[in-house]
Amino acid sequence: MAASCHYWAMALFKIQSSEYVNQISFGQAEYVAYLQRAEGRMSPLSEPEQAAGFLQVMRHCSCCLCSPGVSASYKLVPKSKSLEAAHLAIDAGYRHIDTAYAYQIEEEIGQAIQSKIKAGVVKREDMFITTKLWCTCFRPELVKPALEKSLKNLQLDYADLYIMHYPVPMKSGDNDFPVDEKGKSLLDTVDFCDTWEMLEKCKDAGLVKSIGVSNFNHKQLERLLNKPGLKYKPVCNQVECHLYLNQSKLLDYCKSKDIVLVAYGALGTQRYKEWVDQNSPVLLNDPVLCDVAKKNKRSPALIALRYLVQRGVVPLAQSFKENEMRENLQVFDFQLSPEDMKTLDGLNKNFRYLSAEFLAGHPEYPFSEEY
Ligand SMILES: NC(=O)c1ccc[n+]([C@@H]2O[C@H](COP(=O)([O-])OP(=O)(O)OC[C@H]3O[C@@H](n4cnc5c(N)ncnc54)[C@H](OP(=O)(O)O)[C@@H]3O)[C@@H](O)[C@H]2O)c1
Repeated sequence: MAASCHYWAMALFKIQSSEYVNQISFGQAEYVAYLQRAEGRMSPLSEPEQAAGFLQVMRHCSCCLCSPGVSASYKLVPKSKSLEAAHLAIDAGYRHIDTAYAYQIEEEIGQAIQSKIKAGVVKREDMFITTKLWCTCFRPELVKPALEKSLKNLQLDYADLYIMHYPVPMKSGDNDFPVDEKGKSLLDTVDFCDTWEMLEKCKDAGLVKSIGVSNFNHKQLERLLNKPGLKYKPVCNQVECHLYLNQSKLLDYCKSKDIVLVAYGALGTQRYKEWVDQNSPVLLNDPVLCDVAKKNKRSPALIALRYLVQRGVVPLAQSFKENEMRENLQVFDFQLSPEDMKTLDGLNKNFRYLSAEFLAGHPEYPFSEEY
């Protein structure tokens, strides 16, 4: 069946001068170069934007998909929908695509990029492509082949960013979600520091420009940063982050280490019933958020994204709909007042939608720590 589970995410943010300094101080030359290129190709700023001191636009779009047959718990959507969404997003102006091997839409992303390059809409160097190393490929000898497979899927010579999807290894083999006869995940014992050394080698080999992590808590980041012989720091930590889980402590920690916090679930996730408790609060329906949205004459989604941008977080936002994609790009067109930011801060309840139960029980399961 040509169907798969997709997440489609995108976000765009414009960085104010102080935020820009924060973003570039993390010291990864390639990422800085990307930011500078983005600055060069941005559309002219409106006068209010210039007055507000905006320096640049960085466009983010991310998409991901999980395969049917791998896990019945993934929602199935036609792969063609992902391909179409990738086309729409690039046309709308998104330039950063966040995908992953596990989403099984790397091929569609690759097709969309190639077709837009052929049509003269973008050049390869305009795009910032992120993909992720899946947990079954953490054994050192599997890392480079896994990246090469992703690059082949994406029809690329290099990725801009390669991320360890979780800090928890799973048993390698044919199945991306290996389970025992009782349906319990088969986890492994690889030290993520050993995996990281191979990511460093992939960077040195030119297969990827920057390397990062996802779903690491601060203790795991600390252990990685203190790894003897560490050659490259992770440039980012991609974690669930939104108004109900604003990650203030992890964000402070990441900023102190020059690690960019990238937010998924920024709009409250897609609420797939297989992954998210359907009784959990719907983020975009929050009455306080809706009040702030009304006051600012913007949608709740835009306020939710803008809240993250103003805190120096890079938000991803998923959508299949062209109108939503285009709307989300307006996140740069306004600012929230300090009072509104404070009101929105008050919504935090350290509530996590996606707790990756399939990795629970492993000593490196990341979400038992406070942050
Ligand atoms: N590293 C990880 O472990 C991890 C885990 C999860 C996700 N991610 C990444 O993060 C991305 C996004 O996260 P997510 O899947 O949790 O979704 P999300 O971005 O928090 O939310 C997506 C939902 O928001 C809706 N939406 C988008 N724009 C909207 C707008 N302007 N107004 C109203 N609703 C709007 C979408 O609606 P429609 O669908 O109707 O368009 C979709 O249902 C993923 O694609 C993936 O790249 C990473």
